[in-house]
Amino acid sequence: MNQSELDVLLQGMTLTEKIDQLVQLNGEFFGGTDTPTGPASEFRLTADKPYKIGSVLGEHGADNIRQIQDKIIAAQPHHIPALFMTDVIHGYRTAFPVPIAQGCTFNPELTEKISETAAKEASAAGIHVTFSPMADLARDSRWGRCMESTGEDPWLNARFTESAVKGFQSDDYGKKWKVASCVKHFAAYGAVQSGRDYNVTELSERTLRDDYLGAYKAAVDAGVSMVMTAFNTIDRVPCTISKHLMKDILRGEMGFDGVLITDYNAINESIIHGASEDKSDASQKAIEAGCDIDMVSDCYINHLEQLVNNGAVPEKLIDEAVMRVLQLKNKLGLFENPYKDGSADAENEILFCPAHRELSRKAAEESIVLLKNNCILPLDKGAKITVIGSLADSKDITGTWALFVDKNETVTLKQAIEELYPQSSVEFILSDIADENMLNSAAESDTVIMVLGEDQESTGESRSRADISLPARQKELFDKIYGVNKNIVTVLFGGRPLAIPNESEKSAALIIAWLPGSCGCYALADILFGKVNPSGKLSMSFPYCTGQLPISYSAFSTGRPKPKSDGFIPFVSNYMDAPNVPLYPFGYGLSYTSYEYSPVSLSSNTLSRGGKITASVKVRNVGHTDGLEAVQLYIRDIKGSVVRPMKELRGISKIHLDAGEEKTVSFEITEDMLKFFDINMNYVCEIGDFTVWIGGSSLTDNSADFRLAD
Ligand code: NOJ
Repeated sequence: MNQSELDVLLQGMTLTEKIDQLVQLNGEFFGGTDTPTGPASEFRLTADKPYKIGSVLGEHGADNIRQIQDKIIAAQPHHIPALFMTDVIHGYRTAFPVPIAQGCTFNPELTEKISETAAKEASAAGIHVTFSPMADLARDSRWGRCMESTGEDPWLNARFTESAVKGFQSDDYGKKWKVASCVKHFAAYGAVQSGRDYNVTELSERTLRDDYLGAYKAAVDAGVSMVMTAFNTIDRVPCTISKHLMKDILRGEMGFDGVLITDYNAINESIIHGASEDKSDASQKAIEAGCDIDMVSDCYINHLEQLVNNGAVPEKLIDEAVMRVLQLKNKLGLFENPYKDGSADAENEILFCPAHRELSRKAAEESIVLLKNNCILPLDKGAKITVIGSLADSKDITGTWALFVDKNETVTLKQAIEELYPQSSVEFILSDIADENMLNSAAESDTVIMVLGEDQESTGESRSRADISLPARQKELFDKIYGVNKNIVTVLFGGRPLAIPNESEKSAALIIAWLPGSCGCYALADILFGKVNPSGKLSMSFPYCTGQLPISYSAFSTGRPKPKSDGFIPFVSNYMDAPNVPLYPFGYGLSYTSYEYSPVSLSSNTLSRGGKITASVKVRNVGHTDGLEAVQLYIRDIKGSVVRPMKELRGISKIHLDAGEEKTVSFEITEDMLKFFDINMNYVCEIGDFTVWIGGSSLTDNSADFRLAD
C-alpha cells in the first residue's frame, strides 16, 4: 500500500477498530471457544474480540500462525492482518551463545550473522517481529538479565546493538527472511537498584545520557523499527508513562519514528508503582507518553475508548499511534502477504540446518573466555581425565530465551568430548556430591575438569541473586576435589560473572563457557583439547565478591584514589576486605599463544577540531599457535568540566595472526570519539589533554598522550 491508501484505511476505521490495533494479546487469548475463559474472561473480552486486535505475542510455527492470522483477517472488519511478535534473543531453533557471551567475541560482525540467521529461522516459522536486541548496559551481575546484555561497556554495547538490528532487518525488513527488530528496554533497565529485577533505577541525567542511552540511540540510527519501554522507573517515574523519556528524548532528540511498545503489562504496573490512579489514568499517561502498543494488559482495550469519548485523550493521538502500527505492517508487506515467509516447508528445510549449527559452534569458539592457564591447557590427549559435575551433561545450557529450541538437539560437553575425542581417556562423573568413588577417580586422574556455575534456569529474567558466588554445594564439591588433586581445570557455565576468588586461585585453569548454545560444547571441547585457540575477551568484569557491585573498568578517579598497593589504606577510597579492582576485568582473556604489542605511535600529538590523528601499534604473535586477537583502543580525557572516566573503550579490531606473524593495527581518533555531556549538558568535546591506550585488555598500560586543540 502507499501512504494515501493507508490514510484511507485509517479514515474508514471506527474508534474501537483503531484502539484494537494498539492491543497485543498472547496465545492464551486465542482459545477458539464461544465462551471466553482464562485471561480473556479476566479482561472481560467477548470470545471474538481477540481476533480483532493488532498484534499477537509469543505464537510461533508457520501453520499455527497461519491459522490464527486467517481468523484475524476474517474477523477484523477491514481484514487487517496481525503482527506476530516474540522473543528471538539468541536464536530460534538453533541457539547461539547468549548475548553476554556474544559480547565476549569482540566481533559485532559475528552478531550480525547470528541475528541474520535467527531472523531466517524465525521468519520461516511465521514470526514478523523479534523483541531483540536488548541494549541495556549491565554492570551488576546480581541482575540475572546480564545474560541478555552485551555487557558493561557503552561503546561496545552500541556496536553490538546496531549489528543485531542490521542482522535482523537488513536495509529493508520487508525482504525475505528478515524480521523487524525491537530494541529494549527503554531505558536503563540494567541499572536497577541492587541488581534486583523490576526495581527502580537511580542515576543522574548525565550518567543516563553518557553511559546508558547510547546503545538505544545506535539502534535508532541503524533503523530499528520498534522500541520497548522498560519496567523500571527513572527519576521516580515509570519509564512506560514518562513523557520526558519517550517524547522528549526518544522521539524528539533521537528522532525515533517507529512503533513504541510497552513491556508486558507495564501500563498496569504504573498503578502498582504508585504513579497512576487506576487503569484509565495509566492508559491516558501511556498514550500521552507515546506508547503505541499495550503489551498484554487490559488498559488500552478497556479504557482508551472512553478516554477519547470524554475528551481526555484527543483522537489524533490514537490516529498517530495506529498509523505507525499500520506502517509497520505495510513495510513488512503484510497487506499483500499476511504470512510473510512463514511456511512449514521452509521450516523443515531451514531450522537447525547444518550451516546454522556450524555458526552456533563458530560463535561459541569466539565467545568462550580462558581466564587462567598454568600451562595445563590444552589437555594432553593421552592424559587420564575425570570430568565432574552435573552440568557436564546438561542440556539446560542454551539460555533462558531458547524458547523454541528442541532440547534433544542441544549438545552437552559430555556428548561433544565423546563424539570429537573418542580416543581420549575421559571418565564422566555427573554428580555435584562428592562420594568415595568420585574422590578416588579424581585422585587417580592426571587432570580433573570441574564443571560448575549456573544452568539456564538460574539466570535471566527475574533471576536476581544477592550472592553471586557459586552455590554452597558446588563450593564444597570443589574444595573436596582440590583436596585430592590440584590439577583442576574449572569450566563455568552461566549467564553472569560470578564471584569465584577461591576457585580461581586454586584452579590450574579457568574457562567461562557462558551458555554457549546448541552446538557450543563442540567449541568448548575443541578449546579444552587445543584444536581451537581461545580468543574471547570479557564483556563484563568478574568481581572478587558481591560487595564490589556494580563494577566496571571504566570507573572514576575519586578525590582519594587508592595508590597501587594490595592492602587496605585508611582514608583513601578502598575496601578493608576486598580490592577495588575486579578479579578479571573487562576486555581480559587469554589465548594459547602470546601477543606482543609495540608502543603506541601517534601520527601527531595534537588533534585539531574537525581533524583526525592515527594511533597505531604493531601486534606480533610470539607463540607457536595461530590465533585471533581483539585489539582494543581506550581513551582518557584527563580533565573536563565534569569528571571523566579513567578509561573508555573507543575502538576494537579483531585480527588473525599466524604464529610468528606481525600486523599493524591503526585506529583513527576524531573529535566525535571524545564527546560527552559537559557541565551544561551539551554533548561536546573539550580542549585539553588525553591519553590513548592500545592493548589486549582494559588492563593495558601501553599508552601515548595527545592534546585536542582549537
Ligand atoms: C518481558 C520481558 O521483560 C521482555 O524483555 C520480553 O520481550 C517480554 N516479556 C515479552 O516476552
